[in-house]
Amino acid sequence: MRRNRPECDTSPDPTDVHPAWLPPAAFRAVGSRHTLVHGDGLLVDTVLREVRLACATHGGTVRRSADGPPAHLVLALTGRSPQPAETEAAGRPGGTAPATEPSGRTPSVVNDDGMRRVLDAARADLAAAGGGPLGDEGYAVVRHGEVTVVLADAPAGLLHGLFHVVRLGESAFGAPHPARAYRPVMRRRMLDHWDNVDVHPVMGQVERGYAGGSILWRDGRAHPDRARVRAYARLLAGCGINAVSVNNVNVHATEARLLTDRLDDVAEIADDLRSYGIRVHLSVNFAAPVMVGGLSTADPLDEKVRAWWVETTARVYARIPDFGGYLVKADSEGQPGPFSYGRDHADGANLLAEALAPYGGVMHWRAFVYNHRQDWRDRSTDRARAAHDTFAPLDGRFQDNVIVQVKHGPVDFQTREPVSPVIAAMPGTRLAVEFQVTQEYTGQQRHVCYLAPWWHEVLRFTPWGDDGPTVADVAADGGGLAAVSNVGDDPFWTGHPLAQANLYAYGRLAWDPRLRPEDVLDEWIDLTFDPAASADPELLRRTLHEIMDDSWRTYERYTAPLGVGFMVRPGHHYGPDVDGYEYTAWGTYHFADRDGVGVDRTRATGTGFTGQYPPPWSQVYESPEQCPDELLLFFHHVRYDHVLRSGSTVVQHIYDTHFAGVAEVTAMSDRWAALAGLVDPVVHARVDERLAEQQRSAQEWCDQVNAYFHRKSGVPDVYGRPLY
Ligand code: GCU
Repeated sequence: MRRNRPECDTSPDPTDVHPAWLPPAAFRAVGSRHTLVHGDGLLVDTVLREVRLACATHGGTVRRSADGPPAHLVLALTGRSPQPAETEAAGRPGGTAPATEPSGRTPSVVNDDGMRRVLDAARADLAAAGGGPLGDEGYAVVRHGEVTVVLADAPAGLLHGLFHVVRLGESAFGAPHPARAYRPVMRRRMLDHWDNVDVHPVMGQVERGYAGGSILWRDGRAHPDRARVRAYARLLAGCGINAVSVNNVNVHATEARLLTDRLDDVAEIADDLRSYGIRVHLSVNFAAPVMVGGLSTADPLDEKVRAWWVETTARVYARIPDFGGYLVKADSEGQPGPFSYGRDHADGANLLAEALAPYGGVMHWRAFVYNHRQDWRDRSTDRARAAHDTFAPLDGRFQDNVIVQVKHGPVDFQTREPVSPVIAAMPGTRLAVEFQVTQEYTGQQRHVCYLAPWWHEVLRFTPWGDDGPTVADVAADGGGLAAVSNVGDDPFWTGHPLAQANLYAYGRLAWDPRLRPEDVLDEWIDLTFDPAASADPELLRRTLHEIMDDSWRTYERYTAPLGVGFMVRPGHHYGPDVDGYEYTAWGTYHFADRDGVGVDRTRATGTGFTGQYPPPWSQVYESPEQCPDELLLFFHHVRYDHVLRSGSTVVQHIYDTHFAGVAEVTAMSDRWAALAGLVDPVVHARVDERLAEQQRSAQEWCDQVNAYFHRKSGVPDVYGRPLY
């Protein structure tokens, strides 16, 4: 772990935690130069503090006034006021300004006389590039002569611009390049903490948390380590996240009080996150008027209930003026909701949205609503259908500041699922797409599973067919992205040090879903593992790519096959248990018998789920011949000798992929072993230990899944490998 911290330390970094993607070394290029920061505001102060800290380590200087040595880097506000409406529009894919030649008016070195000319020239250059307003978070970068200029209309843009320069490292100060504007594609890039204030008897301090306790809460109180929260805010800003929901969507008794008499705790977190441009959101319980308000009902159409939300929300904004809004899980897995009062989810969401509207707050209303008390004997009920059945008929009825937050797949963050049909079904509603950075179903941060390729695939999916908008377009037009955090109080933040890459990649893809996962990984590698400190940075980079690029597909190979999902141990969801959920109420089945496996979700003979998609997907998924192999068992019940598009039979595919998956994990471990000496020994040891567990677990998955299907089908492996 790196501990080379500067003497005059103003860093928010606590000493005992890993610096993740913002170690002091990542700031070498900036910190060894002369920087001028021009502008005022809380986030401009943060920019100044960051550069000052970097300079303390690397010997450069930073100042606010034009007097002093010539600057190599100028970070300046344009003086234009940010225009939110245009920012929103500019956030659409394609929002990056086209590059043009520099205007040629920037002097090569900035001094006090030249500063105005530098800024004028940079502005002119940007205008010539057709840049337009940069909005409240965008920035432009131009390099002319020996000066790199970052321009922003608003302080948050300057902070994002600084992190951009940090990512570029030395290349930010290399060849001149024309002005280029960068704006976030998603306006809101949110991280949802499933952290409990009180330790929950079953779910612990962090529900589905695999990185220790919460960094926000400890044993019923706000966590006393505020420096860690500030260090966290810095990391989040460094990858582009700008909103955090601070408590679990399952809102228990203590957590319900965060809205009222425990509001100070939320305000404290908001204070820590604010200087990095991150807003706080709160998960609230739909029955709060009863739980903490002393009313006898939470009926959304009741006047007293309405007044309670209005007054309570006014108090929230009086205490936290930049509060982001509420997040609600209603009528789901035991949480209360409007159904209890014979109302629908538009009634419920609009009630809270109305209270938030005067302050510009947003209501994130989750679409994860299904019946978890199903009768497994009833083949007509289909959990995959539930969100669409509940929400699609409500399209157009939600207020403008309601964001319906849809899990990216129709079931529950499985390793492979189709894109949720809700995303194409609500053109009159603002939708946010929800991912799960915490690896509940993808190895629980004991397995290497780089999820960016999966998210990238989802974001690029075209719900209406090839030429139509993508999932990313729908989210950009609506409520952006949200994701469940994978962070805890573990010294590496994420348990598995390589799982840091998932958090980093989530933020970067939310900023720009067009980024390629392997390029994002490159960024993360260069920031996290100082290339200058490694004896062989190329070997390090190549090996990390070999281990991580395809690790999600490797994980898929040795777990549940062909999109059928689950097969995990009930409750904690780790490790194989093929029939674990098969005869339960949770609605997650594979229906394997002696002849075949898979869920018939067709219109012709199954649950009709394929009919929730518009063409062409309604046809593609309906047909076992056209359905992509990796989703076959999600949509179809087929015989074991069904021949896949790949040419293999289903059962032979299961055997082959499981053996292959285990072999890939062995190769990962060997590759990692070869990096001993090239990475921090503490990091090396932690990853080593996790890989040993991944190897054990992958073998167990392989043996159980293969044995299961061999016993059911009686079909031998064509290569005669052991099936037990
Ligand atoms: C999954 C997860 C739960 C969580 C739920 C949700 O079902 O296992 O712990 O509460 O998702 O998204 O609300």
